[in-house]
Amino acid sequence: MTRYQHPLAPTPLRVGLLAALLAAPVAAKPPVYATPAETAFVDALMAKMTVEEKLGQLNQPPGVGNNTGPAAMAGNEDQIRRGEIGSYLGTQGAALTCRLQKIAVEESRLGIPLLFGYDVIHGHRTVFPVPLAESSSFDPDEVQHAARVAAVEAAAHGIHWTYAPMVDIARDPRWGRVVEGAGEDPYLGSVLAAARVRGFQGDDLRKPDAVLATAKHFVAYGAAEAGRDYNVADISERTLHEVYLPPFKAAIDAGAQSIMASFNEIAGVPMHAHRPLIQDLLRKEWGWDGLLVSDYTGVMELMPHGVAANREQAGALGLRAGVDVDMVSQIYVKDLPAAVKAGRVPMAEVDASVRRVLNAKYRLGLFDDPYRSCTPDGARERALTLAPEHRAAARRMAQKSMVLLENEGDVLPLSKSVRTLAVIGPLADHRRAMLGNWAVAGREEDAITPLEGLKAALGDKTRLIVAKGADIDSQDTTGFADAVAAAKQADAVVMFLGEHPDMSAEANNRTSLDLPGAQEQLALAVAATGKPVALVLLNGRPLSISRLKGKVPAILEAWFPGVEGGPAIADVLFGDVNPSAKLPVTFPHNVGQVPIYYAHKNTGRPPSEQEKYTSKYLDVPWTPLYAFGHGLSYTTFRYDAPVVSKKTLVPSALQQQVSVRVTNTGKRAGEEVVQLYVRDDVASVTRPVKQLRGFQRVALQPGESKVVTFPLGFDDLAMLDDRMQRVVEPGTFTVFVGGSSDRTREVGFEVADR
Ligand code: BGC
Repeated sequence: MTRYQHPLAPTPLRVGLLAALLAAPVAAKPPVYATPAETAFVDALMAKMTVEEKLGQLNQPPGVGNNTGPAAMAGNEDQIRRGEIGSYLGTQGAALTCRLQKIAVEESRLGIPLLFGYDVIHGHRTVFPVPLAESSSFDPDEVQHAARVAAVEAAAHGIHWTYAPMVDIARDPRWGRVVEGAGEDPYLGSVLAAARVRGFQGDDLRKPDAVLATAKHFVAYGAAEAGRDYNVADISERTLHEVYLPPFKAAIDAGAQSIMASFNEIAGVPMHAHRPLIQDLLRKEWGWDGLLVSDYTGVMELMPHGVAANREQAGALGLRAGVDVDMVSQIYVKDLPAAVKAGRVPMAEVDASVRRVLNAKYRLGLFDDPYRSCTPDGARERALTLAPEHRAAARRMAQKSMVLLENEGDVLPLSKSVRTLAVIGPLADHRRAMLGNWAVAGREEDAITPLEGLKAALGDKTRLIVAKGADIDSQDTTGFADAVAAAKQADAVVMFLGEHPDMSAEANNRTSLDLPGAQEQLALAVAATGKPVALVLLNGRPLSISRLKGKVPAILEAWFPGVEGGPAIADVLFGDVNPSAKLPVTFPHNVGQVPIYYAHKNTGRPPSEQEKYTSKYLDVPWTPLYAFGHGLSYTTFRYDAPVVSKKTLVPSALQQQVSVRVTNTGKRAGEEVVQLYVRDDVASVTRPVKQLRGFQRVALQPGESKVVTFPLGFDDLAMLDDRMQRVVEPGTFTVFVGGSSDRTREVGFEVADR
C-alpha cells in the first residue's frame, strides 16, 4: 500500500534502548529562539559565574506562606544575596516582589534579577471559570482573552511566569485534576493550549504585562492508574503520541517558553528523570529551547520513586534529564555543588540549564528593567486588580462556559416575572464554590454567589424562599422537609448542587462520580413536587447523574464559574444569555464505565443490542450519559447533509472542504458550536471511531441559515502507521458533522492510491 509521508517530516531520531518513545511525529522546523545578542549576553554573564551561582539560578524555593504542596523551607533573603535563588514559587504582590528584586539586583554579586513564578490558572484576583469550564466554551478567542486578562493582572502583582496552561488530557474523571485542563480530546486540548499560551505571553514578552506560559505536566500525568493522583502511567507509545503529546506540541508551536515535568512515571521511568522524552524528543526532535521546570519537589521525589538513593543522585538524574529548574527540593543548590566540583555531574549539563534560565530572564527584558511591575505607590497593581473590564470578561467567559444538559418542557429560561422562586441547595450561596480550586490569589469576598446573582436580576418583586436542604457531603436529610416545603410554595425552583471545590484538583480524587452526600435524594424529593425545577450543578468533574435524568427537567452544568459566576448564572437562567457551551469531556452513567471517551476504538466486536458476545455491560448502556460535545440551547438547530468539495483526493493535493448548512429552527437567537469529526474507515492500524478535527461557533437569528465550511488537510487525515510514521493512507474516510459527537450527519470521500 502506498503511504504518503508529510513532505516536511524529517526522519525521526531513533536512539538506543528507548527508541520506541522517540519515533514521534516530527515538527516542521525546529523553532530557534535565541538571538545572537541574547547568546552573547548570556555567554558573558555565565563566564563570570561560580558553580554555586550557576546552581543558584536553577533553584526555585517557595516564598513564605506558599501552600500548594507539602510544607517546605521558604527561600530567604540571605540566599538571594548569596545568589542562591534564581526564581521564586508562589510569591506575589508588587511590594514584596519589588523588595526581593531589589535585593537580587543590588545586593547579590552579579545582580541577576529574580523570576517570580506563580500558579495563575484561571484568572488571578479576577477569578475566571475553572479551566474545564472555560474549555466548554469551545471558544479559543474568549479563552485566549481570559488568559490575557489573567496575565495583565498577575504581571501587575509582580509575576513573570505562570504555571499554566495545564494541557493534560484527562479521560478518567476520578482524577481530581480533570478540572484543570481542557478535557478528554487532544484536538480541542491543542487548540485551547495554543490559545492560552498566546493569551498569557501576549505579543511581546518584553512588555510588562506578559508572563511566561508553562505547558504542564509533561507528560501523560492524566493517565494515572485508577484516577489516583501521582500514580503510575503505563501507556503505549501510540497513546502517548496520539493523545498526550499533541497539546504540548501545540503549546510549543504557539511559543510556550516553559514546560513543567509531571509527577508520574511512564513505563518505569519517572518524568523527572526521563531523558528520552525531555532531551531527545522535546529538545532535539522538536527543537524546543525553553525552560523546563520540575514540579513541586519533583526532583526529590526521584528517591521515593526508587531510582535515586540520595539527594545527590536525584539531582544528578534530574539535571541530566534536562529538568532545568528545581522547584522546592533545593537539591540542585544544596547537594550538587560538591558533585559538580568533583566531576560527578558534568559542568556542561549545569551550563545548559543555566543558559535556559538566563535566556528566559533576557527574553522578558528583566536585565534591562528588573522592576517592570514596580510603581512606587502600587498604583498599577491597584488599578488593574479586579478592573471592571476584567470582571466583565470573567462574566462573559462564565456565560459561555455553562452547558445546558437537559431542558425538558422548556423549563428554562425562567421568566423574570416569576412571583415566588425557591432557591435550594448547599451551593446556592457558597462563595468558595464560585472560585473553584487553584484560585490561588482569589478571595472569597470578590465572588458573587448565585443567590446574590438571582436577587440582583429579579429585584424586589420576586419573593425568594431559600432552603439549604442538605450539606454537600453529609447523609443528613433533616433539611429536606424545609426544601420541599419551599418548593411547594414556589412557582419555580432553582437548585444548586454539586461538589465542594476541594473535591477536585490536585490530590482530590474520588472513586464515586455521584453527587456527594444526600444531594441526589434531595434533588429527587424536590423534583417530586412537580414544580418546574432547574438544577444548576457546580462541580469540577463529570458527574454520574443518570438517576436524575427524566426526573429533574432542566439541568445546567455551571462548573465552578468564577467571581462573576452568580450574575452569569442568572443571565443564563433568565435567558438574557442563550447557553451555547458543549461538554469537553464525557459524562458516564456510572464510575464503572471509566475510562469512557468518544474517540474510542470500534473493537472486533462492536457493541450491539442484538448480539450477546459484543463489547458492552449487563447493567448500564455502553454509551455515555452525556456525550463529548453535547450541550443544548434555548433554540434548536437543524443540520443539512454535509457535502465535500471533492469525492476523491489525490496524494499530491490532500485538500478537502466540508460544508454544512446549519439553520436556527427555534424562536430565539443562539450560537451553535458546529463540530466536525473524521474517521479513517480502513487503515493499517486501528483508528478511533471518530476524531474531532474542527469546530466553529456560529451565531444564528431565528430562521437564519449559514453554511459553515471546514478545510481538511494532511494533518486532519494523517495517522501514525505501524512504524510510527505520520502518513495518510489511501482509502475511504467518513466525515461527521453535528452539534455533538453522538448526533452527527455523515459524508464520505476517498483518498486515491495515486
Ligand atoms: C502542582 C503544579 C503546580 C505546583 C506549584 C504542584 O503540586 O502539581 O501543578 O504548578 O505545585 O504550585
